[in-house]
Amino acid sequence: MGDRLNVEGPVPTDGESAPFVVLGVTAGIAAYKAVEVCRRLVDAGVHVAPVLTERATHFIGKTTFDALGSEDAQVGLWDEASPIPHTRLGQRADLIVVVPATADLLARYAGGLADDLLTATLVATAAPVVVCPAMHTEMWEHPAVQHNLGLLVSRGVTVVPPEEGRLAGGDVGSGRLAEPAAIVEAVLGLLGRRHLRSRSDLTGVRLLVSAGGTREPIDPVRFITNRSSGKQGHALANAASRRGAEVVLVTTSDRVVDPDVVVEQVETAADMEVAMLARAGTADVVVMAAAVADFRPKVALDSKLHKSDGVPDLVLEATPDILSELGRRRHEGQVLVGFAAETDQVPERARAKLTDKGVDLMVANDVSAPGVGFDNDTNEVTIFGVDGSVTDVTLSAKDAVADAILDRVCALLPPR
Ligand code: CTP
Repeated sequence: MGDRLNVEGPVPTDGESAPFVVLGVTAGIAAYKAVEVCRRLVDAGVHVAPVLTERATHFIGKTTFDALGSEDAQVGLWDEASPIPHTRLGQRADLIVVVPATADLLARYAGGLADDLLTATLVATAAPVVVCPAMHTEMWEHPAVQHNLGLLVSRGVTVVPPEEGRLAGGDVGSGRLAEPAAIVEAVLGLLGRRHLRSRSDLTGVRLLVSAGGTREPIDPVRFITNRSSGKQGHALANAASRRGAEVVLVTTSDRVVDPDVVVEQVETAADMEVAMLARAGTADVVVMAAAVADFRPKVALDSKLHKSDGVPDLVLEATPDILSELGRRRHEGQVLVGFAAETDQVPERARAKLTDKGVDLMVANDVSAPGVGFDNDTNEVTIFGVDGSVTDVTLSAKDAVADAILDRVCALLPPR
């Protein structure tokens, strides 16, 4: 393993300037794990203000959080001398994290209800919000729960997804709360990004990044694609733009990006190759975060295939390897970054791709691990350098992973 990289920014330890985090706790069996999250955040120098729902106190005592948090836990809207505790908490918060987030909390928050201290605080804040759902598999998979979660994500809420494992009552399935360490990493990653906001270490740098899975048409209504969501590539575009770079994003995804990012929408590997090669010549940094389909139908039909035509005899051909071509054409001083999504032999495969494709950095992840890669809001990667360096980035929000990758890129750029 390589150097362990802490993606969070420096967290001050004095009470005055410590980041202020509201820790929401709702009524689930996993509420006891929120105690560990609270303790770890306080240890990391965060000011933790616990807010429990009334029903959460059936699972875990307020006294525990009074003792371990940075201030007494609050339960009711009327506990404080102040008649508006939710606005005090909502305005003061640098971040709100809800551990565990029940199906009920997700529904009330998605619906904008504000009928207890926690939901009122969530509605009263402009701070980033992280929810950590935990519930039985049937509830987790229910369309209403997934719909509410989708709504929250579309509003910018970060989700630390549940894991597979043993659930209350002995059942096994997905819905078990993420590990406290992963939740704390996600929180610290987002707080770190806040500290980094003022950084401008990529000012004047032209960065070209690709994102999303390409779609290779079979006929006008069908295509071959993969599970890539484009989230990590878009997070890179946003992070680079925030740090001052002039960013061009070539993507198959319609996910929203910062207004300063120039977006070129593409569909196929062939489109992406044209767009990337046309723009790479003037870029200081090129990042291939896209999941380019390796194969495409040799012939894309002009009209829809019908069942009555019989099972099609699909003949596939290889797509162009865009990254290898970028590696051949790169100019002096240009930094080239590739991605390797693997399910086994991660370091060996990543190192082989690093040299085969002629890149400076290969960002590898094990997409079979929980919370990693495709469509997750979190990622865990190892960055292999052509110089032999290895940097592990622990499970963190994709924004924080993007900043960690850009830190490595910055170190490779020629002095400006
Ligand atoms: N890549 C590319 N063009 C392709 C395939 C991949 O530019 N036709 C790029 C990806 O964007 C990524 C890197 O190459 O940055 C590695 O992609 P990956 O799918 O992990 O590897 P492959 O080259 O497809 O090799 P394999 O199928 O053996 O894993």
